[in-house]
Amino acid sequence: MESIAKQLITLAVRAPSGHNTQPWQFSVEQDTVRIYPDLSRRLPVVDPDDHALFISLGCALENLVIAAAHQGLAAGVDYFPSDEPEECLRVRLSEDADEETDALFQAIPERQSNRGTYDGRAIDDSDLARLMDAHFRDSVKVRAFRVGHPDIEPIIGFVREGNIAQFNDPAFVAELVSWIRFTRREVSDRQDGLAAVALGFPAVPRWLGRWIMTTLVRPEGEAARQEKAIRSSSLLLLFIARGNDKQHWVDVGRSFERIALTATSLGIAHAHVNMPCEVAPIRRRLAVHLGLDDGEQPLLLIRLGHVRKRLPTSPRRPVERVMREP
Ligand SMILES: Cc1cc2nc3c(=O)[nH]c(=O)nc-3n(C[C@H](O)[C@H](O)[C@H](O)COP(=O)(O)O)c2cc1C
Repeated sequence: MESIAKQLITLAVRAPSGHNTQPWQFSVEQDTVRIYPDLSRRLPVVDPDDHALFISLGCALENLVIAAAHQGLAAGVDYFPSDEPEECLRVRLSEDADEETDALFQAIPERQSNRGTYDGRAIDDSDLARLMDAHFRDSVKVRAFRVGHPDIEPIIGFVREGNIAQFNDPAFVAELVSWIRFTRREVSDRQDGLAAVALGFPAVPRWLGRWIMTTLVRPEGEAARQEKAIRSSSLLLLFIARGNDKQHWVDVGRSFERIALTATSLGIAHAHVNMPCEVAPIRRRLAVHLGLDDGEQPLLLIRLGHVRKRLPTSPRRPVERVMREP
């Protein structure tokens, strides 16, 4: 079982994470895999309460569960059990999987965030229904906004505000720059972070990249670029946690990963336009605008659509670097 568990972890680490921080560690003990948050990889500026960190953990957990089912293994998940000495997600593998996950499994290595301009083609209703079916209804709500429908306009307005607020904040830009890997050498040395090519920038030395990010990239220009990207897409999906705690955050990640993998299996691309969920006062106004109940939190916003060109796959640290003793 231990060697199968290590294979499952190879797929778990293909999960998306905020700024590609990969904020996870794993241990394996007989039939049990534990996933620990790696708090040394926090993003204190953009994610001060760590909700995005736990969403990322949920994405890794979901990949693991899907990969286990593909091997015929059921995965029983305990969220942050109190009998563990350290905070973790505990996954017990047993031999009675009853879920067919082939399409999702095949999509794990294919899924990627594609920040390019899409071709404007609509996602048809049957594909939208399959996407909306893919999430955990008890803990997460998902709302869809079609490009071209008047309801999307205020949401695009919130994205714009969030973008401008973030790029006007030197601490946000400094944190972002610290996670951009400007050269191929930086990518291969670190195997984490945002490769410049994946952001649509040329590979340049770090000093030049930092200069471009702090002097040439302007808040208004960045907001206009994101708005154009949204208008080239087919729809936005907003993930709303029904409660504001770690378990709900993990479930947002699980839901998002299922939908992202379903989209990938249908040939649909996705990218985050998360800014209004990341800036707390804008997040609160977004919740009011949507008439959400007390405690419900809009935590993740993605755009989906069609695009011809895949981007280079973003790096991951090898499994040995994320393993620890149980
Ligand atoms: C919780 C979370 C928040 C994210 N926020 C953003 C974001 O605001 N902007 C963005 O371009 N990508 C965002 N991403 C996408 C990550 O940057 C991306 O997953 C990571 O770079 C790895 O690349 P990949 O998805 O292509 O494997 C986010 C991902 C997660 C899981």
